[in-house]
Amino acid sequence: MELKTDVLVIGSGIAGLYAAIKMSEFADVILVTKKNKSDSNTNYAQGGIASVIDPNDSIEKHIDDTMIAGAGLCNAEAVRILVTEGPDRITELINIGTDFTQKNGKLDLVKEGGHSFSRIVHSKDLTGKEVERALIEKANSINNIVIIENTLAIDLITEHNISNLKDMPINNRHCWGAYVLDNNDNCVKKITSKVTILATGGLGQVYLHTTNPSIATGDGYAMAYRAGAQLANMEFIQFHPTALYQTIETRDSSSHAFLISEAVRGFGGILRNGAHEEFMHFYDSRKELAPRDIVARAIDTEMKKRGEDFLYLDITHKNKDEIIDHFPNIYNKCKEIGIDITKDLIPVVPAAHYACGGVLVNTNAKTSLSGLYAVGEVSMTGVHGANRLASNSLLEALVFTKRAADSVRVELSNFNTKIPSIPDWDDSGTLTADEKVIISHNVKELKQFMSDYVGIVRSNLRLNAASRRIHTLFVEVEDYYIKTKVFDSLIELRNLVTCSHLIVKSALLRKESRGLHFSLDYKDLGQMTLGENNVIQNTYQKS
Ligand code: FAD
Ligand code: SIN
Repeated sequence: MELKTDVLVIGSGIAGLYAAIKMSEFADVILVTKKNKSDSNTNYAQGGIASVIDPNDSIEKHIDDTMIAGAGLCNAEAVRILVTEGPDRITELINIGTDFTQKNGKLDLVKEGGHSFSRIVHSKDLTGKEVERALIEKANSINNIVIIENTLAIDLITEHNISNLKDMPINNRHCWGAYVLDNNDNCVKKITSKVTILATGGLGQVYLHTTNPSIATGDGYAMAYRAGAQLANMEFIQFHPTALYQTIETRDSSSHAFLISEAVRGFGGILRNGAHEEFMHFYDSRKELAPRDIVARAIDTEMKKRGEDFLYLDITHKNKDEIIDHFPNIYNKCKEIGIDITKDLIPVVPAAHYACGGVLVNTNAKTSLSGLYAVGEVSMTGVHGANRLASNSLLEALVFTKRAADSVRVELSNFNTKIPSIPDWDDSGTLTADEKVIISHNVKELKQFMSDYVGIVRSNLRLNAASRRIHTLFVEVEDYYIKTKVFDSLIELRNLVTCSHLIVKSALLRKESRGLHFSLDYKDLGQMTLGENNVIQNTYQKS
C-alpha cells in the first residue's frame, strides 16, 4: 500500500511536531510516530529551555557558555544562530499556547550547570510535557497534517530500493520517503514524499541505565546510515549526572531511570558521597554547576573510589515550600518511593541521557542526502560540540526546525523532479518470528557491554572488546532480519546494534580525551583546544 505526501515527518517530539506545524503552512504533511503522539524524550524534559530573555543577560554570554561546555568542538556559526534565533522561537511557543512558569508577571528564569546566568525558561519541572501538550493540540487543529500513530519507520527510501537505479552513486540519490510498519493494520506501507524530515530523537536505550524512554532506540541514526547519509561525532554520549537511583524493590516497570533535574543543582543542590561529604570542589571550581561531562565523571570517580553504587544529592537546606513549588514532579516521584526530598538525601547515579552527535546537517538542517532533513536530537548541527550545555537541546530543535521549514518552502517551490516508481516492500520468503528470545537476549547483552565498555570512562581495550561483540551481534541479527517478517522489537534491535557500531567506531577514531569522550589511553585536552568532527558514512548499501 502506498501513501503520498509533500512532506513526510518521522517522529512526534518537539522537533517532529514543530516541523509538521511549520511545514503545513505551505505543504501537505504526513507525520508518523511509532507509539502514541506523546511518547518521546520531549515529554520527559524537566529543566527547561535556555534562552537570552533577561535584558541583563547577553547573547555573547550564552554563546560563550555553550562553546565552553562543548570543549572546543562547537560550530561557532551554528551556536550563534542557536542563541540569536532562540528568543523568537520561545515567543512562538508561547503564542502556540505553551504555559511557562511566571514570577512577578515575567517568565521565571532559572540556572543549570555551565550557565553563567539564570536563563532557563521552564514549566515547573515538567517543561517537556507542557511543550508537547501545546504542540500536539496545535498540530491536531491543522487540516493538512495527518498524524499516524503506532507506525514505525523501517527504512528510508532512496534509489537503492529501485532495481534499475540501485547503482546510482550515493551523492546523486534523493530520499523519497520511507517504508513504515503500520501496527494499526499490521502491514508494511510505503510513504512517498518529496521531502522527508527525520525527527526520531535519541538512542539512550543502547545503555542499561538511561533517562530516555523506550522509544529512544536510535532508529533515525541507523536509517540515515543505511541510506548513505553522513553522521558525525557519535562517540559523544552525554551521561546525566543525577538520575534517581532505585533498588529493584522500588523500581517500577518502566525501561528508564527517573531524572533529578539539573535545575535542582541550579537551585542549590549539593552532591555528597556515601559518607555524606561534599566532593565537587576537588574536581572543578564551578562545583555542582560545572558542565555535565565534568560532574558525571567526578561522580563516577567518587563511586569507583569508594566502591559504591550511588551517591547523594542534597537539597534539604532549602525552604520546604519553595522546593515543592519548584519541583512538584520530582518531589512526588521521590515521595512515592519513601524519600522526602525536603528532609532526605536523594540517591543518584549517572545515566545515559543525550547523543551530541548524529546525522550531519548544515545550518538549514539539510543532511548530505538530497531530500532528507534531520531535526532535533537525531541531528548534528554542531551546536553541542563534545558536550551539550544543559537545556540547549529543546532550543536547538526549535531553532533548526524553523530553518528547515524555511529551506523546505524554497525547495518545494522549485521542485520539478519526477518521483520514480517505488517498489512495494518485499517480504517474500520470510517467516513469522517464532524465536523472540533471540531479541530479548541480544538486547540485554548489548546494553550490558555498552554500559560496561563504552560508558563515562573508556579505553581502547574496552572499545575493541565492544567492537568484537557488536560484530557478532550484527551478523546474528542481520541473518534473523533477512529471514523474518519484520516486527517492532526486531527493527529496534537491528537499529540498536547499528548505533552501537557507530558509537564505538567513532570512539575508536577519536585519539584524544575530549568532552564526553574520556579515554584512559589519551590525555585530556582540556576545554578549549580546537578539535575536528568524526564523520562516518556507509558507502556500501544495505537495507
Ligand atoms: P523525541 O522527543 O525523542 O521524539 C522522537 C519521536 O520520534 C518520538 O515521537 C518517537 O516515538 C519517534 N520515533 C522514533 N523512532 C521512530 C521510528 N522508527 N518511526 C516512527 N517514529 C519514531 N533537553 C532540554 O533542552 N531541556 C531539558 O530540560 C531536558 N530534559 C530532559 C529530561 C529527560 C528525562 C530526557 C530524556 C531528555 C531531556 N532533554 C532536555 C533532552 C531533550 O528532551 C531531547 O533531546 C529532545 O526532547 C529531543 O526531541 P526530539 O523531537 O528530537 O526527539
Ligand atoms: C535536566 O533537567 O537536568 C535536563 C536538562 C537537559 O537535559 O538539558
